[in-house]
Amino acid sequence: MKAVTWQGTRKASVETVPDPTIQRPNDAIIEVTSTAICGSDIHLFEVLGPFMTPGDIVGHEPMGRVVEAGPDSNLRPDDRVVVPFQIACGDCFFCAKGLQTQCETTQVRDQGSGAPLFGYSQLYGSVPGAQAQYLRVPHADYGPIKVSDELPDHRYLFLSDVLPTAWQAVAYAHRSPGDSVAVLGLGPIGQFAARIAQHQGLTVYAIDPVPERREMAARQGILVHDNTDASLTAIREATQGRGPDAVIDAVGMEAHGDAQSAFAKFAQRTVQYLPDKLGQSVMGKAGMDRLAALYTGIDLVRRGGTLSLSGVYGGQASPLPMLSLFDKQIQITMGQANVKRWVDDLLPLVEDPRDPLGVDDFVTHRLPLDRAPEAYEMFQKKADGCIKVVLEPQPVR
Ligand SMILES: NC(=O)c1ccc[n+]([C@@H]2O[C@H](COP(=O)([O-])OP(=O)(O)OC[C@H]3O[C@@H](n4cnc5c(N)ncnc54)[C@H](O)[C@@H]3O)[C@@H](O)[C@H]2O)c1
Ligand SMILES: [Zn+2]
Ligand SMILES: [Zn+2]
Repeated sequence: MKAVTWQGTRKASVETVPDPTIQRPNDAIIEVTSTAICGSDIHLFEVLGPFMTPGDIVGHEPMGRVVEAGPDSNLRPDDRVVVPFQIACGDCFFCAKGLQTQCETTQVRDQGSGAPLFGYSQLYGSVPGAQAQYLRVPHADYGPIKVSDELPDHRYLFLSDVLPTAWQAVAYAHRSPGDSVAVLGLGPIGQFAARIAQHQGLTVYAIDPVPERREMAARQGILVHDNTDASLTAIREATQGRGPDAVIDAVGMEAHGDAQSAFAKFAQRTVQYLPDKLGQSVMGKAGMDRLAALYTGIDLVRRGGTLSLSGVYGGQASPLPMLSLFDKQIQITMGQANVKRWVDDLLPLVEDPRDPLGVDDFVTHRLPLDRAPEAYEMFQKKADGCIKVVLEPQPVR
């Protein structure tokens, strides 16, 4: 089969690799019909390079049809499924609490990490990823979400990651209708976090430097701003000078802006060029994130408010302004999305013919899997109005 592989910093290539096979009775193999590129994939080709090996198959946002189902999976051939980006068991202590990313059965203990993720480096279990024609799905007795045959792939596909991540970002902001929230970043995660917050009756202000990303959010009725000091002043003025009740950071560790971020970018680049073992050790002890968005969030949120981080952070030595955090009594929540926890909330919304979350207005590019290298470059550079790319691994029938 063909698959998108990691070959080095900013270097993806499509290679022919062996087809996956069933290895455990609760595995399934799916033929992937749609598979998206995520902001998290960009981290693999930049900051997380020391944890990758050339040839690793990337990708974690797939859906497709079951072609082979192990006897202990709860699937059958031809079932149409969306596959969550994390692999969890469904019945351990953490899964029972809705913390599937911490699954006690599947945790990547040798790396000290939570549940394994498809196509997401040694840190998350080196599981072959989903930007491929076929995918082996471990724990197919729990993970895969069965969906109906009626609607097109793009209505369901984002249940794999983007929608539950955005939903959790809003849930972890702990707000009620009428409260205000600022969303930092209008990539795929920020787009849906803003729409979900609005759908739940919150007043939403969103910030992103990229005009077409602001335009997409504005089409959905979101109040949008460039990331300037004037925007922060405007949002403060709109919230009685206090700042919003919550801020959602949908940017993460590769933020643009401020002097700290410029320094951390230099440090992140340096680590990429160290030999793997040294790079891993530096990242594990002294790694630093680009914190422009996080700092904006701390500054902007009102006293006693919540800062909900859905953007990924990976630095062990990122400097935090503890004085401001403590003095303002800010509550910080964060983490990878626990996909299955939110699926029952989301499924009726993506199937609703009125499309309340605007899923039909989201995908900007659809390309065959073969063109993944240019798709990565376009998404990373935000070229050609690119906001979300879906790769189609099967030849057109
Ligand atoms: N928690 C999870 O489970 C989970 C799941 C998926 C993605 N993520 C993370 O969420 C983040 C966003 O993902 P995405 O797919 O939307 O990626 P993306 O890179 O397309 O989006 C980031 C957006 O932030 C904007 N931005 C950069 N610096 C900014 C700043 N200082 N202020 C405001 N906006 C700024 C960029 O212009 C861009 O539009 C990434 O860190 C990704 O790894 C987390
Ligand atoms: Zn993703
Ligand atoms: Zn579990």
